[in-house]
Amino acid sequence: MIGNNSVVKLEGLGKVYKRGSEEIHALKDVNFSLPKGAFVSILGPSGSGKTTLLNIIGCLDRPSTGTVEIDGEDIGGLDEKGLVRIRREKIGFVFQQFYLLPGMSVRENIALPLLFSKKKVSDKYIENIIDMVGLTGRGKHKPNQLSGGEMQRVAIARALVNEPSIILADEPTGNLDLRNREIILELFSSLNQRGFTIIVVTHEIKVAEKTGTAFAMSDGALSAVNNIADYFCNLAVSRVMHI
Ligand SMILES: Nc1ncnc2c1ncn2[C@@H]1O[C@H](COP(=O)(O)OP(=O)(O)OP(=O)(O)O)[C@@H](O)[C@H]1O
Ligand SMILES: [Mg+2]
Repeated sequence: MIGNNSVVKLEGLGKVYKRGSEEIHALKDVNFSLPKGAFVSILGPSGSGKTTLLNIIGCLDRPSTGTVEIDGEDIGGLDEKGLVRIRREKIGFVFQQFYLLPGMSVRENIALPLLFSKKKVSDKYIENIIDMVGLTGRGKHKPNQLSGGEMQRVAIARALVNEPSIILADEPTGNLDLRNREIILELFSSLNQRGFTIIVVTHEIKVAEKTGTAFAMSDGALSAVNNIADYFCNLAVSRVMHI
């Protein structure tokens, strides 16, 4: 199984939610493959299935149909314990809300996943990650002593600490002002240059342009975006025209 070069491989992926007697087809026949070291964005309107897709890639949820391979491992046959192992070892999540523990310092928040993975690391290792996200000297601070952008950098550092195969970021700049959005975008870009594979869900053209490769979700279907500027231009036109 291991040997293909894809970090993520999805085939014929479908997700149906049931709400009472209603069926919601949140994903429809999604096929997607991501090589190691890729940096891609996923665009699409609210409710089109972006978070559903990320949750399935991140093993937080299971598909209704189709297969998911992470690092060449078919996760379909895994029980909950197996999924937890994949999440701990292979996936780093970053969300719009930072989900930091307020009573813990920056350093403790970053090191938190190590408690669960039982991975032993040196103090220097954590220091390096703190440096990598641009928070040198802030390790002892509590989240309430940080700006929103700094809190998101802590959340990104926490996502890196287990050296995941892939970072999944769901609208990571959605809660930030312009300046901090740019800082976080640059941080993702520098992490990609260091070799991290990153998928970012975004509504922002700057983020999509930075990733270089964009996909669009539309009513549960995923397709490649050939021209990012055209995609956003068409989006603006359809909003103005209310179509
Ligand atoms: N747990 C759930 N139960 C039932 N329906 C759900 C559930 N989660 C999502 N959905 C539905 O699935 C569809 C896709 O939702 P999803 O959250 O993936 O969209 P999204 O593209 O991330 O939207 P947004 O941009 O608003 O975050 C929507 O119709 C949503 O209402
Ligand atoms: Mg979402």
